Amino acid sequence: MENTTWTVVVGAQAGDEGKAKVTHKAAADAEIVVRYQGGPNAGHTVNTGSKTLKFHQTPSGLAHPGKLCIMGPGMVLDPPLLLSEIAKLVAEGIDVSSLRISRKAHAIMPWHITLDGADEADRGAGKIGTTKKGIGPTYADKMSRSGIRMGDLVDREALAAKLRSVLPRANRLLSLYGQPLQDHEQVLESYHAAALQLAPYITDTDAILSAARRDGKSVLFEGAQGTFLDVDHGTYPFVTSSTPTAGGACSGSGIGPTMVDAVLGVSKSFFTRVGEGPFPTEQEGDVAQMLAQLDKPWAEKGTTTGRLRRCGWLDLVLLRYSTRVNGTNFLAVTKLDTLDQFEEVNVCTAYRVKGSGQVITEIDDMSAGVLAQMEPIYTTLPGWNSSTFGCPSFGELPDQARAYLNFIESNLGVQLAYIGVGPACEHTIELINPMKLGRRSLPGLASRT
Ligand code: GDP
Ligand code: IMO
Ligand code: MG
Repeated sequence: MENTTWTVVVGAQAGDEGKAKVTHKAAADAEIVVRYQGGPNAGHTVNTGSKTLKFHQTPSGLAHPGKLCIMGPGMVLDPPLLLSEIAKLVAEGIDVSSLRISRKAHAIMPWHITLDGADEADRGAGKIGTTKKGIGPTYADKMSRSGIRMGDLVDREALAAKLRSVLPRANRLLSLYGQPLQDHEQVLESYHAAALQLAPYITDTDAILSAARRDGKSVLFEGAQGTFLDVDHGTYPFVTSSTPTAGGACSGSGIGPTMVDAVLGVSKSFFTRVGEGPFPTEQEGDVAQMLAQLDKPWAEKGTTTGRLRRCGWLDLVLLRYSTRVNGTNFLAVTKLDTLDQFEEVNVCTAYRVKGSGQVITEIDDMSAGVLAQMEPIYTTLPGWNSSTFGCPSFGELPDQARAYLNFIESNLGVQLAYIGVGPACEHTIELINPMKLGRRSLPGLASRT
């Protein structure tokens, strides 16, 4: 047990930080990979060099042949979409027999998807910019105890009874929005049929993790979305409806906090956001264009929706908050290569509060209304203006790139674990894999200085 590590990979920003690539690297030394929240709103890219795989609901650990991969109780799953994702992975030569789906995960039903779109239309100018995958309405039904779980779908009688209890209410909501109503028999037949195809994977995943604990197996938890999209700790209301922060790994997979040994935050070397919501360091014009790299295969376009991502400079005030709220002790910085062409690089190190002019370096609340009052104050660092693409080691990075990374590391009080220098998994400099450290040799959690 002393030599196995349970590590949570968490998005330190607003999603799409490159979590899947980092998960893929770290998972080489994990026996089990667990997704703990979110659902088809996620888009996780693993570029193995020979192929580019996209994971939405399934854990990206599947890119390692035979790796036991769990979709935990905290997830919300769309059965028909999941079947097509599995079929696509199989067509790519991926063995999915090691996939396990929690009986307790909630099912995204067709009315959830309709209501997600209708809610967004209803919000008008105040829309969130959701992925329209039904995430919010499914989590809302789960919390109001009207949800349907994956285990319910498999049992035809249980599903029929569930539908009798929840469908009338769903149809009342649909008619309120002037949307077509759902038919009991049709939903019953199609979702039960989908569940039967998924049945070989649906099981009690809590028991697998209990046994893993007992047997001293190493486990990696793969977060989706990111800290600023956390329903409690993000830029509310411009958030998703789950808990992407590290604490979500416990409730979303059924383990206690003392079982987590390390938290590996993932941040781009700059900042992106897709959808609405505050973004203090957002850029327009040439800087935004240079960061977005729209002519490249790794262009800043949403993996799930294809929407353009908003781009801006790295924000250390937000990353400090993220480090605290997640208890991050290791950090991966991806897309260092995106900054290769800049003569100078800006980093937000403090905020000036609009009106009072007060300068702050820490923030305790990043709700949309609070962040709207903040103006970024930048520290300008020299750029390296040369290629880091595919650079094999930290020592071979240009001096200015190393200085940039050291600046981030020392400002956050975390230990750099990975540096991304290109889209493929091999384009990653590994400084430490937390999974390889025994529990005793792990550094302490970041202190808040
Ligand atoms: P995730 O949702 O956090 O797993 O991230 P996404 O897969 O949605 O988006 C990350 C994008 O950046 C993908 O297109 C990756 O292939 C790409 N990527 C990841 N790391 C790097 C890197 O270090 N350099 C470059 N150029 N691309 C990267
Ligand atoms: P990964 O796991 C980036 C954003 C949406 C929207 C908000 C709410 O790939 O990092 P939702 O459909 O969840 O109700 O949308 O959250 N969002 C993401 N942005 N990456 C993601 O996932 C996201 N999942 C949701 O754009 O602003
Ligand atoms: Mg993504």
